[in-house]
Amino acid sequence: MNGFSRIGLAAVGSLVLASAAFAQGAPPTPEQRAAQQVKTRQAVFDLVSFTFGPAGASLRPGGAPLDPAAATKIAQRLQVLATFIPEVFIPDTHAITGLTTKARDAIWTNKSDFDQKASDFGAAAAALETAAKGGDAGEIKKAVQGVGKGCAGCHDNFRDK
Ligand code: HEC
Repeated sequence: MNGFSRIGLAAVGSLVLASAAFAQGAPPTPEQRAAQQVKTRQAVFDLVSFTFGPAGASLRPGGAPLDPAAATKIAQRLQVLATFIPEVFIPDTHAITGLTTKARDAIWTNKSDFDQKASDFGAAAAALETAAKGGDAGEIKKAVQGVGKGCAGCHDNFRDK
């Protein structure tokens, strides 16, 4: 067997394994679909948290201040991630039981307010990019605090403790 078809077979093999969950060819149940949607949402927040990490650390006592280049990168990434938030919550999963999620029902009963919080968060990240361009450490710190308020402003209303 030549190298190419071996690779091809290996790829097919892993595809078969990956779709084992749907081996009967049945479409996912509403519960399975919702569990996947929850995973996607949580992955977005894991990336948000990973990205914000050094910025959050800069606010702690003795934390290293955030230099403008790092602040710019964080601000740009958070602006992109913010745009995912309203979208990944379009599927309304609040009536599905047995999900491991901290998302509150209010997200769907008050989606426009939730979306506004996501947009405010994106705006706070944009303000951080502006502050980073200015290069003033005090302004960068204030803008990082603003982004942190964006996290808390949403969690306080829409995420279980
Ligand atoms: C517009 C609303 C909103 C904003 C803004 C937001 N979050 Fe969240 N966050 C949520 C919700 C809702 C959940 C719960 C998701 C779930 O469990 O299904 C969550 C979950 C998380 C989680 C847990 C993810 C997991 O794997 O379960 C972390 C960590 C997190 N957020 C960090 C942050 C940080 C840090 C920020 C700001 C830099 C932020 N979030 C901004 C709404 C928000």
